[in-house]
Amino acid sequence: MPTIPVEPVEPLGAGRDQARRKERIAHTFDLVAKEDYQRAHGGFHDRIGARLTELAGLRPGDRVIDFGCGRGAVLFPAREAVGPDGYAVGIDLSEGMAHATAQEAARLGLRNVSVRVDDIESPGFPDSSFEAVLSSLVLQVTPDPAAAIASARRLLTPGGRFGATSFGPDDDPRWGEAFRVLASFAEPDPEERPDPGAGHRRSGPDIPALLADAGFEAIRVHDEVAHSDYGGPEDWWRSQWGGGRRRVLDRIPESRREEARSAAFAALPPAPLRRTTHILYTTATCG
Ligand SMILES: C[S@@+](CC[C@H](N)C(=O)[O-])C[C@H]1O[C@@H](n2cnc3c(N)ncnc32)[C@H](O)[C@@H]1O
Repeated sequence: MPTIPVEPVEPLGAGRDQARRKERIAHTFDLVAKEDYQRAHGGFHDRIGARLTELAGLRPGDRVIDFGCGRGAVLFPAREAVGPDGYAVGIDLSEGMAHATAQEAARLGLRNVSVRVDDIESPGFPDSSFEAVLSSLVLQVTPDPAAAIASARRLLTPGGRFGATSFGPDDDPRWGEAFRVLASFAEPDPEERPDPGAGHRRSGPDIPALLADAGFEAIRVHDEVAHSDYGGPEDWWRSQWGGGRRRVLDRIPESRREEARSAAFAALPPAPLRRTTHILYTTATCG
């Protein structure tokens, strides 16, 4: 009897789960886009975006795309670095983020910058259309970081530069503990499915390994510390609502919010509330 070869297939529904995860990412960042995101953590994202732009070695006239641009922490300094003969494009899944950032660019009267809603895992741009792809604090959020890196390679011209940031550890484990205390008050997520990428989101993806697999060269990691200064526990609490962690906090029932907040405050380090986090800046060249 002839044997019929069986091709490995994606588990049924995996594509639908990825799509649903992306809808949820977009929804969370829509909620924080207007105000909270930029106020959260005392300008932390903007400082990291500016540093990534410096390390990426952009040149005047470069065309640069910012993957997961949020409120423009990378986009705006990148636009400045490439000057009037270059341009910077930001893409984000969240309409709220894209809209608020486009409005900011218009308010500032900037010409060589644009923003659109798009998915970094399958961006709608032609091959070899950018000299640089940058992305700050996004590859640990997107469901399939390998797909995002493959698209970066596709969009880059030969010799083009890639740069991304991701979280390393905190110097003081009490920051992570305070958030775990908060999360322990959250109701279970009725939509949560076994997530093959969950490890990525917990410890961050191994960006250098993904870049090497995709054929990038000259891969370097700069490990630097970044600080977030909080005026007090209340300021820390507000910042927790201003980013991706909000989707956990939204599941804490109203009736238990006060209890959750007090328990988390008790777990925080003592004043002054200065969080020191390692940020990994990974740069590479498209071979
Ligand atoms: C933590 S924020 C970082 C934003 C900005 N890069 C910064 O440093 O402030 C993550 C952003 O990535 C976006 N994002 C996550 N997955 C994405 C995807 N697959 N495609 C486009 N944007 C994505 C989110 O909507 C969110 O705006």
